[in-house]
Amino acid sequence: MSAFLSQVEAVAPSEGFRESANVRNHQLYEYAGKNRIAFWEGCAQTLHWYKKWHTVMDWNPPFSSWFDGGRLNACYNCLDRHIGTKIENKVAFFWESEEGASREITYKDLYQEVNRLANVLKSFGVKKGDCVAIYMPLVPEAVASMLACARIGAVHTVVFGGFSSEALRSRILDANAKVLITADGSVRKGKLLALKDTADPAIEGLTCIEKVLVIQKEKNSVSMKEGRDFFYHNELEKAEEYCPCEEMESEDTLFILYTSGTTGKPKGIVHSTAGYLVGAAITTKLVFDVKPNDVYWCSADVGWITGHTYVAYGPLANGMTQVMYDGSVDKPKKDRVFEIIEKYKVNIFYTAPTAIRLFMKWGEDTFKHRDLSSLRLLGSVGEPLNPEAWHWYYKHVGSEKCPIVDTWWQTETGSIMITSLPGLMDMKPGSVVKPLPGIEAKVLDDYGNESKSGYIAIMSPWPSMLRGVHGDTRRFVQTYWNKWGGRYYFPGDSATMDEDGYFWVAGRVDDTLNVSAHRIGTMEVESALIEHEAVAESAVVGIPDEITGQAIAAFVILKEGREPSQELADSLKAIVVKKIGGIARPKKIFFTQDVPKTRSGKIMRRLLQDLAVGRKLGDTTTLENENLMKSIESKIENSP
Ligand code: WTA
Repeated sequence: MSAFLSQVEAVAPSEGFRESANVRNHQLYEYAGKNRIAFWEGCAQTLHWYKKWHTVMDWNPPFSSWFDGGRLNACYNCLDRHIGTKIENKVAFFWESEEGASREITYKDLYQEVNRLANVLKSFGVKKGDCVAIYMPLVPEAVASMLACARIGAVHTVVFGGFSSEALRSRILDANAKVLITADGSVRKGKLLALKDTADPAIEGLTCIEKVLVIQKEKNSVSMKEGRDFFYHNELEKAEEYCPCEEMESEDTLFILYTSGTTGKPKGIVHSTAGYLVGAAITTKLVFDVKPNDVYWCSADVGWITGHTYVAYGPLANGMTQVMYDGSVDKPKKDRVFEIIEKYKVNIFYTAPTAIRLFMKWGEDTFKHRDLSSLRLLGSVGEPLNPEAWHWYYKHVGSEKCPIVDTWWQTETGSIMITSLPGLMDMKPGSVVKPLPGIEAKVLDDYGNESKSGYIAIMSPWPSMLRGVHGDTRRFVQTYWNKWGGRYYFPGDSATMDEDGYFWVAGRVDDTLNVSAHRIGTMEVESALIEHEAVAESAVVGIPDEITGQAIAAFVILKEGREPSQELADSLKAIVVKKIGGIARPKKIFFTQDVPKTRSGKIMRRLLQDLAVGRKLGDTTTLENENLMKSIESKIENSP
């Protein structure tokens, strides 16, 4: 790896970009390096506070608190403080549907909607600290729902609209949500995604959910339960037009967002109000080099952390104009994304490598008739951006004038941790560059020593760090703080650092997969498969995929008397979709009679990966049954 790294040529940001960049020298890095706490305090001062904090940071490893004694409201910071300023009439969202419908929502529109919605939630009995689940398509109402919760001090938990009924149910239960906000449906790839229909069985018999609010987007018929289900627009019409903001303590929870881990049960990552907002606001401003008239498009769904931080809180706190597109990238044609960039004259485009690789596969000819000259900055997030895709993105989308910010971060980190400030640093295709000001990251070995190759470690607390795993402090400590004796945060990514101090992320070191920049736990998929009546055991691994980064391959051991067949493979895929959602659908199912395990019983996924991709087998010496691999190899060749 390091021989390869030294051959990568650095690419400097274009002169045009550099000259007009907001940050043009390294003073910020130097200052934050010497005065980390004062740097974060300065960032916090850019927000609106009802009451100033008395302590910037308190660190009782692994628990930190930021801006204690302070009081603020996240919704106020995203909306109210823009009202009465020039931003009031600025467009907050240009929204497009897959079928070409469009809407323009100004900051004032959003403010009015959020106020009424906050009053509706209050009328439903939602109080400070209560949880509201949001299961929605990518529409401005989803962001309005998040902000309405923040306004009254309720905790939101957004569940990605592609998740299944069962996945939604387990999250609602874990978070103990009182209200669900959903929609009748949304059109994806020309088909109706009937969210309310999926939500109905998810909440069937749950006592925690008292009320359901339904947005009529597609006007498809939905069943409404008397006294529980209400239509969004009816309730909003009746609501008072102003709702005061709740003054929140800095450490009050802003939201819970579930992410996959190494067990079958997703973790509810808890984020605080002040620290999270400080991180979201400052990183948006610095990394995206925000200018007042920018049109910015982050293509993430609000169901993921990227949608929370870089669609909802970060851009709105900075008063930015955004594009929001609820549809697939090839509808009606493969130039759809570029048509939208041209239509709205997008300046900043932030997406995931899986989309970039798909565009690359389709080829630049598919959009050569589109005018992309408005673009000035490109971004990438969610998984490693391979150098080939980097060069293609740089050349064909960015016309070799737009820097690319390859941003490394996680649901748990809340905001971007490692990337370049675009006008300041040279890029290296495939590298995420360096920790942002105020972030102390290193590459450490297993023993906590600095190393060229090892794991990413965050050496000191930062404001937007997770505050815990909802209801499971033990899991929080074990997952993130056990690696180096509770001293440093362990994100679970392996990485290399080159001689210039640039970070190169290799991937996850735990049993989680990264499919199209979505984290999926192997155990989650295994737990779904095992629920099929024909399955005795299963082992799931990630296999490289040209477009999605990784794809899912499942090795399945059938119960006595069950025979492999194509129908069975299809029904196994279907059960995973039912339990988790379409994003977790296995690409390959291999029927086998056993899976390789170590003598201590741990599944040797590396060997299964070798088999799944037809690679020469790695080290088999720790295998409990060395002859096993041969037999699996011959079996999988005959799998349907
Ligand atoms: C991976 C998404 C390489 C990484 C914001 C991390 C990346 C996980 C990058 C978090 C990047 C994220 N280069 N890998 N630029 N960004 N990752 O929680 O493995 O959905 O741990 O947050 O995605 O995924 P999550």
